[in-house]
Amino acid sequence: MGGYQSFGIIIPIFLTSFHILTLVSATHPLDPLTPFELTQVQTLVKKSHKNVTFHYVGLDDPPKSEVQSCLSSQNRPNNFLNCPRRAFVIARTNSRSHEITIDLSKNSILNDKVYNGNGYPMLNNEEQTEASELPLKYPPFKASIAKRGLNISEVMCEAFTIGWYGEMNTKRVVAIMCYYIDGTVNFYMRPIDGVMATVDLDEMKIVDYRDRLIS
Ligand SMILES: *[C@@H]1O[C@H](CO)[C@@H](O)[C@H](O)[C@H]1NC(C)=O
Ligand SMILES: *[C@@H]1O[C@H](CO)[C@@H](O)[C@H](O)[C@H]1NC(C)=O
Repeated sequence: MGGYQSFGIIIPIFLTSFHILTLVSATHPLDPLTPFELTQVQTLVKKSHKNVTFHYVGLDDPPKSEVQSCLSSQNRPNNFLNCPRRAFVIARTNSRSHEITIDLSKNSILNDKVYNGNGYPMLNNEEQTEASELPLKYPPFKASIAKRGLNISEVMCEAFTIGWYGEMNTKRVVAIMCYYIDGTVNFYMRPIDGVMATVDLDEMKIVDYRDRLIS
């Protein structure tokens, strides 16, 4: 988001306010969220929830009737400032998934409900990176690498979802599998077999660790 913020600060210096509006606002009611709107969503959600993570942010498509009436009521092309714009967000906080609808035109949260059904929102980059770095500091994992005669500086790990087990209640965990880089650009070719860590993303810690290599 850092890039988007500087966009907002630098542009006004060079352009007239007309240009600013066309640049930061959508040109059609079904356009994806603009960088400005994404920042707006982030600000509103962070104001109402502490320690929140984002798993989905997108346009909440207006109904066709709304799109049609909005388009026909515009006098000037490329001016849809009065069209309703809403965002739909899936965010997590306190180990719970929230489904949030935001009215961007009014700059307010319309609806915020906790999702209690099965399944979890998709992984975001930050949590995948954090989870995949855990084994590198985990003594049993370091021992497994040493036992195989490998250099831990050349090991990289990735997070994988554990799969879907129907309506069984599972925790929000990922399986971490690791690879040996050692000069290759295709590390997937060099899996470190038999070693797997399971990370609970809500606690962000290794909750299960297996190494099939005996001795
Ligand atoms: C925010 O979440 C992280 C990770 O779950 C946790 O370690 C931290 O203590 C939380 N901070 C607050 C203020 O709740
Ligand atoms: C392990 O890998 C790092 C990073 O590539 C390298 O700097 C280091 O010399 C290696 N250590 C050994 C013992 O080969």
